[in-house]
Amino acid sequence: MHLPDTTADTLALATALAKEAGALALAMRRSAAVVDAKSSPTDVVTAADRAVEELVLGTLRRERPDDGLLGEEGGSRTGTSGLRWVVDPIDGTVNYLYGIPQWAVSIGVEDADGPLVGVVLDPSGDELWQAVRGGGSTLNGERLQVSGATELSQSLVATGFGYDARRRAAQAALLPDLLPRVRDIRRLGAGALDLCNVAAARVDAYYEQGLSPWDLCAGGLVAAEAGAVVTGLRGRPAGYDLVLAAAPGIHQQLHDLLVGYDADRDPLAG
Ligand code: IPD
Ligand code: CA
Ligand code: CA
Repeated sequence: MHLPDTTADTLALATALAKEAGALALAMRRSAAVVDAKSSPTDVVTAADRAVEELVLGTLRRERPDDGLLGEEGGSRTGTSGLRWVVDPIDGTVNYLYGIPQWAVSIGVEDADGPLVGVVLDPSGDELWQAVRGGGSTLNGERLQVSGATELSQSLVATGFGYDARRRAAQAALLPDLLPRVRDIRRLGAGALDLCNVAAARVDAYYEQGLSPWDLCAGGLVAAEAGAVVTGLRGRPAGYDLVLAAAPGIHQQLHDLLVGYDADRDPLAG
């Protein structure tokens, strides 16, 4: 597909940044240690989270002075160009800390119409996921297509749990009912990669409550461009309340079950 020059440049820059960032994170992996905590004691920060974000955002401040920036570790800036870069320097920090190779650098770019470019790099598996709005998504250059699942009972469903204990309790409470209704559940530990896994038909669906824009921006586009239906519940867009990314043949079934569980009710909101 022929991309406008500006979008092709943005994809190329996002890809180059993800590769640099991934190399830095890999180099720092062996000495990974907790240096801080954020929303809860289990929501940890390593030196690599900060160093990788600084590498990416520092380059963007120089190369894209007019673009907005949003980084998980605190880097943000309002832009004037209409583009905003949304960066999770390491998605799957707990896996990174423990040496489980399921973590990624996630770089998304959005405009007024939503996500425009998404790049997710899994440096351990050497897997590069890319997407452009309207242009499809790829894994290491190969075009992606979601699964053709039509039966929820035969579907592999990924999910994730937030860091707050109250949210976790609510997320766990629906599992005894959901688990017997699906093939199995996976909790792999990196939301951006869960979304990419939907794109590659490695799972049939993924849902989670409490995601932040940096978890969703790039991976959500990779999933949608591979044919996934990416929504919230009850007609709402995917976001903090709930992200459901599913193969079209099971989206409605899983959506209706999640509505029945009130899975988009925020246990932290009073
Ligand atoms: C987390 C991971 C995890 C998901 C959490 C996220 P982080 O991101 O994506 O899989 O369940 O909701 O916060 O903290 O590793 O960047
Ligand atoms: Ca994340
Ligand atoms: Ca992170």
